[in-house]
Amino acid sequence: MFATEWSPDGWRSRPAVQQPEWPDAPAAETALDELRGLPPLVFAGEARQLTESLAATAEGKGFLLLAGDCAESFEAFSADTIRDKLKVILQMAVVLTYSTGVPVTKVGRIAGQFAKPRSEPTEARSGTELPSFRGDIVNGFAFDAEARKADPTRLVRAYNQSAATLNLLRAFTKGGFADLSRVHAWNLEYVATSREGKRYEALAQEIERALRFMAACGIDLDGELQLHEVDFYTAHEALVLAYEEALTRRDSLTGDWYDCSAHLLWVGERSRQPAGAHVEFLAGVGNPLGVKLGPTATPEEAVALCERLNPRRRPGRLVLFSRMGADRVVQGLPPILRAVTMAGHPVVWACDPMHGNTFVHDSGYKTRRFEDVMRELRGFFAACETAGAWPGGVHIELTGDNVTECLGGTEEVLDEHLEQRYETMCDPRLNARQSLDLAFQVSELLRH
Ligand code: PEP
Ligand code: CO
Repeated sequence: MFATEWSPDGWRSRPAVQQPEWPDAPAAETALDELRGLPPLVFAGEARQLTESLAATAEGKGFLLLAGDCAESFEAFSADTIRDKLKVILQMAVVLTYSTGVPVTKVGRIAGQFAKPRSEPTEARSGTELPSFRGDIVNGFAFDAEARKADPTRLVRAYNQSAATLNLLRAFTKGGFADLSRVHAWNLEYVATSREGKRYEALAQEIERALRFMAACGIDLDGELQLHEVDFYTAHEALVLAYEEALTRRDSLTGDWYDCSAHLLWVGERSRQPAGAHVEFLAGVGNPLGVKLGPTATPEEAVALCERLNPRRRPGRLVLFSRMGADRVVQGLPPILRAVTMAGHPVVWACDPMHGNTFVHDSGYKTRRFEDVMRELRGFFAACETAGAWPGGVHIELTGDNVTECLGGTEEVLDEHLEQRYETMCDPRLNARQSLDLAFQVSELLRH
């Protein structure tokens, strides 16, 4: 039997979970046609560069920081929101790099992170049942029949917002904003006075002193590009497969297929069936890939996914995101670590300490405890240490805005604060203070 060649639409013959049903099928075709004609958002060469960084990380010579919104929104789209999110990620990266001496690969859940998997296809409120909100790329957040109808023009709007976001990110990271001499300027106003903010400020001063010292030694800092620019990559869950397919292009240099909607794509906990459509699609694109592994993942499944997505065992191709929950990581992760290592798969081991720790608070808000997030991270680091695996990264939901969505942290978000600034459309995010606190604590775990 000969394997037929992979093609971008090959997923269509597999069972595809979590796909929108467009009531107006011709309109969906029109939107997808338009997407097929639009320029790629990222280049294959950039995706390969990210693969190289991740290959070093898989070997213990780097650390992956993947962070951003749970769901980007059409409404909350502004230059300030993008800038502030980038500030927090740059701050976290500086903390991690400076405190551990390990290079940090920076990847945003941004410029394409619109689609959301849902546990139920419909949502009922006081007797009314409507389709669930699947992210702004599919339908509207408001609980009314019109908004919840899947609207394919949203696919094109998501593309356009991604392009504009990426354009600004490229300007910020290559145009002076991310220059290491501006390390102070990334401290957000509401963070600066907090304990983490002051700790960051002290670290920023040390960096400035080091830069002045090097300049005084006669080193031409202006000529050192790494001090003035940052490589910043984008990632999202490859959920709406028709969208991903429409942005998949053949690289003119290598002839390989790349999903040019983002540098890294991941498959979620709900759509990672080894014989399913999402895995079939991702198996054929050249981008670096992520796989979420929740508490029900078995070692056999994890190995099967590695075989399917990285049969040639290329280092840097695959990141496994453990998202077991604080109570389960210590039991759940080690058998997977052992099985994947035994099978000879050179993956990046990373921890998503967010998605296994979500619960509905008495007030009705979906939330997470900062302490559970840290507890899962400690469990992850311990499991990696025991298995002799390098703890290669974290996957965090955060925002630069001063939200009160996750409980705890040093300037504690208390139960009664949840309602004050709860702004997420989907999962609760860490605010910048909590994110910075996390970065300091992860640095300590890494140094260990
Ligand atoms: C997410 O990352 O927003 C998500 C839905 O994660 P998971 O697939 O791990 O539940
Ligand atoms: Co989420």
